[in-house]
Amino acid sequence: MDNRELVKEALAAREMAYVPYSHFAVGAALLTKDGKIYRGCNIENAAYTPTNCAERTAFFKAVSEGEREFAAIAVVGGPAGEAPIDFCYPCGVCRQVMAEFCPDDFIVLVGKSEDEIREHVLSDILPHTFREPDLHR
Ligand code: THU
Repeated sequence: MDNRELVKEALAAREMAYVPYSHFAVGAALLTKDGKIYRGCNIENAAYTPTNCAERTAFFKAVSEGEREFAAIAVVGGPAGEAPIDFCYPCGVCRQVMAEFCPDDFIVLVGKSEDEIREHVLSDILPHTFREPDLHR
């Protein structure tokens, strides 16, 4: 699985975004260490706060199916109905969910298209992480 393929999966996931309020459609594709892909899209709600981001949709689908080991995630987003016009970075809440299940070297790809991809690791976008061991310090 190369970066382009994972971003392509995220673009396909984005097609399913349910965004009647923000009209901002996001897609994510989460790659497990054994090569499975879980897609996620953002799912909004009339009460606003129940909205789930694309990244968390992908993580919660995977974790609820028993997955615990992850290699990478690709994220794409932008105004609904058109191709992404900029890079869409994960929100803070999604970064924290990534930190719960992934080590510092977990790969986070953000794409504008299959041809324009930035590659980060989790610790770049979420330094000074709070994880389970910190509860005992
Ligand atoms: N959103 C995501 O799904 N992922 C992100 O990384 C950024 C924001 C969603 C939440 C909401 O449905 C819409 O984008 C506008 O904030």
